[in-house]
Amino acid sequence: LSSVEVDLSGIPEETAVVVKWRGKPLFIRHRSAHEISESQAVELSSLPDPQPDNARVKVPEWVVLVGVCTHLGCIPISGGGDYHGWYCPCHGSHYDNAGRIRKGPAPMNLIVPPYKFLTSDKIIVG
Ligand code: FES
Repeated sequence: LSSVEVDLSGIPEETAVVVKWRGKPLFIRHRSAHEISESQAVELSSLPDPQPDNARVKVPEWVVLVGVCTHLGCIPISGGGDYHGWYCPCHGSHYDNAGRIRKGPAPMNLIVPPYKFLTSDKIIVG
């Protein structure tokens, strides 16, 4: 299937789910107000791959990512790492709640796939 619809309504705050898309995992995280403000407050100059939070999301509450580490392609673990986003156990890359690389060997942020909102709680990816 080239695109996939995801119902967001059952995903609790501060939780990420994994959905399959084109043979890859997709991470979809429902951020709390606290997580959003934490991510928006990050100093861009401290980031290896500088991108503001609002360039990574369509609405602040929802983060949608391709769940493949940009180092060598392992699948990071949701909720792990020093920045409470994702942690890749293969070689220790830490991503924040917007999927930005913060520490470790990964050279780039997790990729944001093409997607759009069909309703306020349904997206289509791809
Ligand atoms: Fe993720 Fe190496 S593949 S840190």
